[in-house]
Amino acid sequence: MRIVVFFSGTGTNLKSILEHQKKYNYEVCSCFTNNPIAGGIGFCNEYKIDCKIIDHKNFNDREKYDGLINSYLENLNPDLIVLAGYMRIMSKSLVDNWEGQIINIHPSLLPKYPGLHTHQRALEAKDKVHGSTIHFVTSELDSGPIIRQESFEIEPSDNEESLINKVKNLEHKIYPETISFLIKQ
Ligand code: GAR
Repeated sequence: MRIVVFFSGTGTNLKSILEHQKKYNYEVCSCFTNNPIAGGIGFCNEYKIDCKIIDHKNFNDREKYDGLINSYLENLNPDLIVLAGYMRIMSKSLVDNWEGQIINIHPSLLPKYPGLHTHQRALEAKDKVHGSTIHFVTSELDSGPIIRQESFEIEPSDNEESLINKVKNLEHKIYPETISFLIKQ
């Protein structure tokens, strides 16, 4: 099973997905980033995975940008497209072309807190629990069908940084597991 991973930043989820390839019997055949200085590029080099970099800042037309992504994906024809901290909204035409094959991980218990600053929003709302959600990507932001959700209790001592770390630790476990689950379906 061949998967493509999209990322924009540090890429710790990408790293965990790469580390679990053998265990879960999938292959990351290529990666994509919109950010030429994303930390995740280092993990692609380490694992000798081709990384396609297209800087979104050189485009003011989302359709044109996503058209290039679509051609990139058509060339590869992956079984699954895994968004791991990819911080760009995808256009409806791109999502529609690959609907059912794109998954995303989001750092909140959706439908709570779509969008940004999820940890801060959970703290401000004095939530008792927080967590992460893996879902299919549809043309509406952070709202496609949920595949898996995991939570933990928020401690009185938690702050934004500790929640980021707790959520990421959880994600590093559940994202490779969920990829493995999906490719067996
Ligand atoms: C992850 O926590 C992921 O859930 C979040 O970005 C982080 C990426 O971390 N994704 C989103 O916020 C998407 N809306 P990483 O670069 O270390 O994997």
